[in-house]
Amino acid sequence: MKSEKLRRLVALPFMMCCATFLLAQQVREVKNLLEGNAQAIANGKANFRANCSQCHGLDATGGLRAPSLVSGKFTHGASDADLFSTILHGVPSTLMPGNDLTDDETWEVIAFLRSMQPKSEAVIAGDAQAGEKYFWSAGGCASCHMVRGRGGRLGPDLSRVSASRSAAYITESLREPSKQLSDGLLEPGHDSPIAGDTVTITISSGEKIIGIAKNEDTFSIQLLDLQGELRLFSKSDVQSIVHERKSLMPRYTEAKLSNPALQDLLAYLETLRGE
Ligand code: HEC
Ligand code: HEC
Repeated sequence: MKSEKLRRLVALPFMMCCATFLLAQQVREVKNLLEGNAQAIANGKANFRANCSQCHGLDATGGLRAPSLVSGKFTHGASDADLFSTILHGVPSTLMPGNDLTDDETWEVIAFLRSMQPKSEAVIAGDAQAGEKYFWSAGGCASCHMVRGRGGRLGPDLSRVSASRSAAYITESLREPSKQLSDGLLEPGHDSPIAGDTVTITISSGEKIIGIAKNEDTFSIQLLDLQGELRLFSKSDVQSIVHERKSLMPRYTEAKLSNPALQDLLAYLETLRGE
């Protein structure tokens, strides 16, 4: 009798503990019940085309404004629950907006994305190590770009470039740097395309100083020059200020950067996701 009571006393906390554990497990492993469902995938595809494709591309393989969602790699978490949360809330301080899709619509979109998942990881065939070497030496990229605290300041920090950009966008940045700059002028959410614009200032001695405008008002302009120094000019003191509407980033044409070498570079940049 006594031992029976004791056993119950021991068993009760044990069962409660187990139940909480199972419950926690369940919350962590939210699963998309619509995965693989043909109708859900079709609905998700239609919804994706209407709401997401303008940035992520029609087939979610990445567009000029947002990364691929079918490379098998996710910066913000790859589980169903992570995707649900990213799609619902967006990614703060990036172009990725929150959504007011219903839960079912969101799961359908996820079912569509999962149906597009590549079978193999190797989307970009290049050699990341060769690309890394090019970046830090022959390519001269590091003289203008910073990665994890190392490198130049003239161009944007590339530490998480593949979290926010598609391979198509990066390729265009290299082959046609000035194209995005002019497209970017139309896009208010973009990280200051105007600030990426090349400016040439001719000072009173006739000397020309080239750089990127960081701040400009009616009376003054602040320029990040080619040496990476920030310089302030009073507009009344200079002869002329010309906004070139082109990028300071040189064009990496096929003659300069062959297609296989570009693949290597892309494979390296693919690894830059901000962790
Ligand atoms: C206005 C452009 C825009 C629209 C519209 C948009 N996205 Fe995004 N999305 C982005 C950008 C930019 C990022 C990268 C955020 C970053 O820098 O981390 C992103 C990131 C994501 C991620 C995270 C990817 C990862 O690597 O973890 C998911 C998932 C996603 N978007 C899904 C969607 C879905 C689904 C829709 C439509 C319902 C959508 N997005 C609509 C711009 C957009
Ligand atoms: C002389 C300086 C300079 C060099 C060298 C340079 N860049 Fe750039 N890069 C810039 C500037 C300035 C921008 C921003 C304006 C623009 O988008 O063109 C930029 C933009 C970019 C972007 C777009 C970033 C974004 O998020 O919009 C990528 C990607 C990039 N560069 C990669 C590279 C790589 C890879 C190399 C080497 C092969 C390289 N750059 C060499 C100056 C440079």
